[in-house]
Amino acid sequence: MKKNVTPGIVISGTGVFTPPYTITNEELVHSYNAYVDSYNNLHRNEIAKGEMSALQHSTCEFIEKASGIKQRYVMVKEGILDTHRMMPAISRRPDEELSITAEMAIHAAREALENAGRKPGEIDLVIYGASTSERPWPAVAVEIQAALGCTGYAFDMTVACSTATFGISTAMDALLAGTATCALVVNPEFASPQINFRDRDSHFIFGDVATACILEKEESAKGKHVFRILDRKLKTQFSNNIRTNVSFLTKSEPNITLGRFYEQDQFFIQQGRKVFKELLPLICNLIEQQLKEKNIDIKDIRRMWLHQANINMNLFVARHLLARDAEFKEAPVVLDEYANTASAGSIIAFHKYHEDLVPGDKGIICSFGAGYSIGSLIVEKI
Ligand SMILES: CC(C)(COP(=O)(O)OP(=O)(O)OC[C@H]1O[C@@H](n2cnc3c(N)ncnc32)[C@H](O)[C@@H]1OP(=O)(O)O)[C@@H](O)C(=O)NCCC(=O)NCCS
Repeated sequence: MKKNVTPGIVISGTGVFTPPYTITNEELVHSYNAYVDSYNNLHRNEIAKGEMSALQHSTCEFIEKASGIKQRYVMVKEGILDTHRMMPAISRRPDEELSITAEMAIHAAREALENAGRKPGEIDLVIYGASTSERPWPAVAVEIQAALGCTGYAFDMTVACSTATFGISTAMDALLAGTATCALVVNPEFASPQINFRDRDSHFIFGDVATACILEKEESAKGKHVFRILDRKLKTQFSNNIRTNVSFLTKSEPNITLGRFYEQDQFFIQQGRKVFKELLPLICNLIEQQLKEKNIDIKDIRRMWLHQANINMNLFVARHLLARDAEFKEAPVVLDEYANTASAGSIIAFHKYHEDLVPGDKGIICSFGAGYSIGSLIVEKI
């Protein structure tokens, strides 16, 4: 048997902040279809002459069947369903006020700290990671560190949908190297401003949320539900199939106009089918290889907290690994309620569905998405 190379680091507490507003598929589709009708009416002559294509209606049936999503939470609902705007109306906060993603993260962090039985002053590393960061600098993590009263150091990072698992792994490195003693990893995914609500293929995909995890050495952990990280496996493989070109470079493009900031590539874009085809084998192989290396039988995995992008992907992964359909408790789903929440998805599932596990029970937290990137953690309740 191979030696355990990452002993003694635990997730000692988790937290989830759920934003105040919901948008159901029905509300979203109603607004999108009203936009389509007005667009097609405005361009009826060009459409009749074949110079432009008419836009197609979206349907709740497609969304639920293709993705499993029934609703999503958003921080700011105002503006999203307004067919003249289709974008949340978010007022700019003064620089002296707490940033919006710092606020989301702090709500989740406080719950994680309470569950871990830790005080903010005991945290000496804060990692903030999200698919779309609020700003490049000063790092939002440093703002969170100051607002909570943590010590040590803090930084931002991103690996898109795998930011939470890669963040946990990075915190483990610091704990093992002795550059930190207790780490807070926060993942405020404020996705709604990055959605093109005028795009039929993607207007339904994302929701807002924030998650938090406390990591520390096993001997110091005092939380009620503590999970030892038995192994972590990270993989990236370049792909343009999930991409955004939103960038500080956009404004320096020659002949730039305001309309450029609303073009499709400034939002989330994906080749959904290709993502399915290319990413699924990578995920299945990585988990199988990881279990083999750790000499763990899939029958000994009590739960899989999988990335929450698409129900059909999760069913596929679980069926492939188990060689049968998974029961809900074996691979819990939260994306029906939260939609795709990028890197936060697997952590929401873990947070909501871990308390019934007993010491010795093992599980897998696995994220996957843009990059491509995959992060898989084998954990065991202690
Ligand atoms: C996005 C996703 C839900 C789309 O599901 P899909 O089954 O691949 O659907 P397709 O894009 O192939 O579209 C199928 C049909 O539905 C249509 N369609 C697309 N959006 C629609 C909508 N909102 N309402 C109704 N029909 C729609 C398409 O036009 C297409 O029609 P056609 O067959 O006549 O060409 C799915 O591909 C996905 O989730 N993929 C990857 C997920 C992922 O992990 N992403 C990582 C990001 S974190």
